[in-house]
Amino acid sequence: MAALCCPQHSIPLLGTNLWHARAAGICVDVSSGFVAESCTLSWLRSCSLNASVKGLVWNRGVNPQINQIDTFVKSCLPDGQGTPFAYEQLNLSANAEKPAAYRRDDVILACKRLVAKLPPSLKETIEVDALMLCDTLTSLCPNASWLTAQLECVGKNNCARWHQDLYVGRTIITYTGPGTWLVDDNSVDFSQFDKTMGVSKEVSDPLIVPDFNKIHRAQTNAVCLLKGNSWPDINGFGITHKSPNVPLNDKGEVLEKRLMLKVDLSNTQPGL
Ligand SMILES: [Fe+2]
Repeated sequence: MAALCCPQHSIPLLGTNLWHARAAGICVDVSSGFVAESCTLSWLRSCSLNASVKGLVWNRGVNPQINQIDTFVKSCLPDGQGTPFAYEQLNLSANAEKPAAYRRDDVILACKRLVAKLPPSLKETIEVDALMLCDTLTSLCPNASWLTAQLECVGKNNCARWHQDLYVGRTIITYTGPGTWLVDDNSVDFSQFDKTMGVSKEVSDPLIVPDFNKIHRAQTNAVCLLKGNSWPDINGFGITHKSPNVPLNDKGEVLEKRLMLKVDLSNTQPGL
């Protein structure tokens, strides 16, 4: 059940689950983490301070420039797996001695470079979003070392299997096509990660998350915040998530390319 963060809703009290730590092969007692849905950026930020909230979705409605975005995406060749068409990375710890305003200037310039290859009509919109995602993550986790921003036109699913990530956190906007899928900890059978290793995602997905209706499916243009395994004070693993299932043609190609903006915080330098 979705936990809503808006004023008219309350965050439910959480029980405690005992589940297997697949990496260590031992049992760990953790509080259940869950996905919260937010109405605004400020609610997203305040909800993220709740240690039990591991994932957040802010559904922003239809982007007013959806037609221009669609036109651009149709003209894009889809990137290969993990190869964005725009990529910026900053070592935040290298600039730790700089005043915050100067460090933010570096982020502002990185966001300008990130959108340089976009059509003029889309640059400002996506630059504003990129800076919002950077500001959100860096204010929530000011001690992380590496900030990475990327724009990607995805023609196939890169993260199609349910998983958690090692980074501190990720914010992501999917401008075309369905958004990221996230699940509460208590919707996950963690023992299935090991048991289904090497098995096709068609088989493993429903074993790892048995109830399809429990999946939080972010809408197009939603802002998602995903806490990773290295998020400060995370209970157990980061949020369990995956790329959305998308319709394919008879050649196995996706029918709708997705334009994605991702901003990551990491403690160690990530590669491309
Ligand atoms: Fe991921």
